[in-house]
Amino acid sequence: MKNIILIGFMGVGKGSVAREVVKNSRYVAIDTDDLIESMENRKIKKIFEQEGEAYFRELEKNISVWLEKSVKNTLISTGGGFYKVKNLKKIGTVVFLDSPFEEIFKRIEDHPNAKSKLKKRPLLSNLSEAKKLYDMRRPEYLALADIVIDVTNKSVQECTKELLKKVAKNA
Ligand code: S3P
Repeated sequence: MKNIILIGFMGVGKGSVAREVVKNSRYVAIDTDDLIESMENRKIKKIFEQEGEAYFRELEKNISVWLEKSVKNTLISTGGGFYKVKNLKKIGTVVFLDSPFEEIFKRIEDHPNAKSKLKKRPLLSNLSEAKKLYDMRRPEYLALADIVIDVTNKSVQECTKELLKKVAKNA
């Protein structure tokens, strides 16, 4: 099994889909933000505050090198900016979870943990800046994707089913 590498904007549901894939397949999953937090023993928010974004992006680069060399048969979910690493396509089949910005935001706000979801993501603290980032990134996500899943108005289960079907076809 080739790795699956899940990309997409903050809050689109990469983590939820990853957990559902694990339940319904033989993939195990890891998450680049979780790897960074455990390596640094501090939260992403703290890393941004204490070291700045450039430092965080360096950590993502280091992780991308390790993923390419050492990780197999795994579903890798990524932070929203991870896609910028140079070797993304070499890590695995790139799956982009797509949704309009307004839907993503609605989804976060409707979540029971909305406050903490927003608080832990420094780049979502300013709505108009976040929208600009979304508009800049979406074409880049699309250009890199081997598979696109439009998650709008679909349950996590539906998205997962579609993902596994498309991955099997792509293999
Ligand atoms: C970021 C997304 C976050 C996290 C960091 C930066 C981004 O991950 O990596 O706050 O640049 O979009 P999620 O996409 O899991 O929120």
